[in-house]
Amino acid sequence: MLFVRNVAKLKKIIKQKKNQNVTIGFVPTMGYLHEGHLSLIRIARKKCQFLAVSIFVNPIQFGPKEDFKKYPRNLKKDLRMLKDEGVDLVFYPSVKDMYPADYKTSVYVKELSKILCGASRPHHFQGVTTIVLKLLNVVQPDIMAFGKKDFQQAIIIKKMVEDLHLDVKITMGKIIREKDGLALSSRNIYLSKTQRKNAVVLHESLKWAKQAFKKGLRNPKETIKRMKMTIKEKNGRIDYVEAVDPCTLQPVKKLQKGTLIALAAFFGKTRLIDNTIL
Ligand code: PAJ
Repeated sequence: MLFVRNVAKLKKIIKQKKNQNVTIGFVPTMGYLHEGHLSLIRIARKKCQFLAVSIFVNPIQFGPKEDFKKYPRNLKKDLRMLKDEGVDLVFYPSVKDMYPADYKTSVYVKELSKILCGASRPHHFQGVTTIVLKLLNVVQPDIMAFGKKDFQQAIIIKKMVEDLHLDVKITMGKIIREKDGLALSSRNIYLSKTQRKNAVVLHESLKWAKQAFKKGLRNPKETIKRMKMTIKEKNGRIDYVEAVDPCTLQPVKKLQKGTLIALAAFFGKTRLIDNTIL
């Protein structure tokens, strides 16, 4: 497994692969890897000949009061996991190389970036699209994999790829969960024992919404109200619970098959997200 820190060196390797007509797959991550990341790596592994994974905790997608500094990191363990998955190359750039002091450019996907998670994290998605575009320009993958856990992120990146005529196919992997239903996240380690137990309510409220829909509940307001109540009962502080169209991310007036129910809530200081498709 190649370990590359330098952009110029990576470009050279990619050029060689392109010249040999090798198909390239790419999974961008912020590290502290878990089965959610690995599921994407396994999907991408099957679809390409040369698989690159990036590990980069991207400072510009964190707000000033967010957890950039204390975001969990464990490079040694990550590298072991990636090697076991048969990853060909790990790109691990430094912040200084990605954002030199005179760095000025960013890319922003309008509208989609300011709703749902974007409402309470106003610069987050601009940070995500900027780093993903930079990584895409260096890695030049044929396919790239994103998790449905961050559904809005995947939709925004798809839109950027379409709007900027980028030549990459995006695959979305399903949400990987703990046995009790909590969606895997690098941030779950922040949770206290009680918060960890309570956080299961996120998945439970989504499961309830799905069941209620099956039994005929079509009113998004009613569904959202019930979900919020259940989450609050477990000391979750709601950021949002919304029922939206899965492509436009705009609220729906009536629930239907395919509607995305997405939510974010705090347990203590830890903000967790989850979603389901009806
Ligand atoms: P990170 O949170 O490390 O996630 C990397 C990828 O793993 C994303 O596509 C995310 O949706 C996926 N993922 C995380 N948890 C998952 C789970 N439980 N099930 C399935 N997939 C899961 O998302 C980012 O990093 C960053 O924003 C990034 C795209 C790398 C840009 O900095």
